[in-house]
Amino acid sequence: MSLLTPPAWRVLCAVADIPDGGSRGFGPAPGGFIGLFAVRRGGLVFVYVNSCPHIGTPLDWTPDQFLSADGQRLVCATHGAEFGIEDGICVRGPCLGERLESVISEIKDGIVRVPWTAGL
Ligand code: FES
Repeated sequence: MSLLTPPAWRVLCAVADIPDGGSRGFGPAPGGFIGLFAVRRGGLVFVYVNSCPHIGTPLDWTPDQFLSADGQRLVCATHGAEFGIEDGICVRGPCLGERLESVISEIKDGIVRVPWTAGL
């Protein structure tokens, strides 16, 4: 890819498909192994790789559920680590100070998309 070639994009979903204040998971892209998840806060969407920095398990405890009961933190179902929604930094739990892998995303015409990256 040259600098003049736009990246290929993977469409995740419409912004409206993620409840405001909620989250949604996405399986791996074809050929990939690890999925993604997104959290919506109004017009903002934060996308992360669905792999806990503690031991690498997916975070969701049930499909599309990545948030604490009060909706203020991301939570890993395996050992309960809690992460900031906007920065993905672990603020409580066994991987304190470590960070979820964030994924660059953009919203275009109401659609959330991420650059196509092999394996994600
Ligand atoms: S795997 Fe996430 S807290 Fe242990």
